[in-house]
Amino acid sequence: MHQTMRVLVTAGASGIGLTTAKAFAASGARVFICDVDANALSTALDAHPQLAGTLCNVSNEQQVIAMFEQAHRTLGGLDILVNNAGVSGPTALLEDIHLQDWRDCMAVNLDGAFLCAREAARLLRKQGSGSIVNMSSTGGLYGFPRRAPYAAAKWAIRGLTKTMAQELGPAGVRVNCICPGSVEGERMDRVIAAEALKTGQTEAQVRTVYTDASSLRSFISAADIANTILFITSPQGARISGQEIVVDGHTETL
Ligand SMILES: NC(=O)c1ccc[n+]([C@@H]2O[C@H](COP(=O)([O-])OP(=O)(O)OC[C@H]3O[C@@H](n4cnc5c(N)ncnc54)[C@H](O)[C@@H]3O)[C@@H](O)[C@H]2O)c1
Repeated sequence: MHQTMRVLVTAGASGIGLTTAKAFAASGARVFICDVDANALSTALDAHPQLAGTLCNVSNEQQVIAMFEQAHRTLGGLDILVNNAGVSGPTALLEDIHLQDWRDCMAVNLDGAFLCAREAARLLRKQGSGSIVNMSSTGGLYGFPRRAPYAAAKWAIRGLTKTMAQELGPAGVRVNCICPGSVEGERMDRVIAAEALKTGQTEAQVRTVYTDASSLRSFISAADIANTILFITSPQGARISGQEIVVDGHTETL
């Protein structure tokens, strides 16, 4: 389906990013990943020799520029950016959040998304085709108690997506964002553990609060997200742009 596509996935060494990178490679795409975690990156590249990749902290402008140059050279061009990197940020009431923790969360989730989207926009506008997928969250659709910096950053991703879609659409470039619900895996385990610690609930209780918030009463999988990204970036998704695609088993609140 993506046979001739050249794909860059940020934070591709684990979680949703790695699952998405593997899914693109399995569908015939050439795939480049970057990640800030050297161990995770070398483990991923060793285990999946079909992937290429490099170290990069997406919140660092010079590193992002150098990473895009390397990805472009390695892939022989670029068709798709999966702008996936994000961190959970602090779990605390707003009045207890330190400015540095706020800034660290914004640096990865928002500065990083901007820096990578900017490099991709420059390449894809010149090319006159391509697709960018930004990673928001259901936290970017509703308020998210004790996760204000994360929710604020993920709401901002939606504004970035709409505006980029307007700016790049006339050049033939599509921009969408995905809003995943809670994805089963290590990240949610960490979020649940932190919330249990802060609220005095057991981890099982916190887990039930999350699953009960969805009509389908379940977490979703990284593969659910990867499948959606593959569809919207494929020729079958050719008229989908400027959208916030929610993959969450249907939640109306968090
Ligand atoms: N997991 C969920 O439940 C969930 C729900 C909604 C949205 N999301 C979003 O999906 C995206 C991926 O989430 P995940 O759960 O796979 O994440 P994760 O916590 O599993 O991390 C994935 C990778 O991101 C890398 N990373 C962290 N900071 C980075 C940086 N500054 N530069 C480059 N790489 C960096 C990590 O090293 C790791 O390998 C994030 O944007 C996240 O906010 C996740």
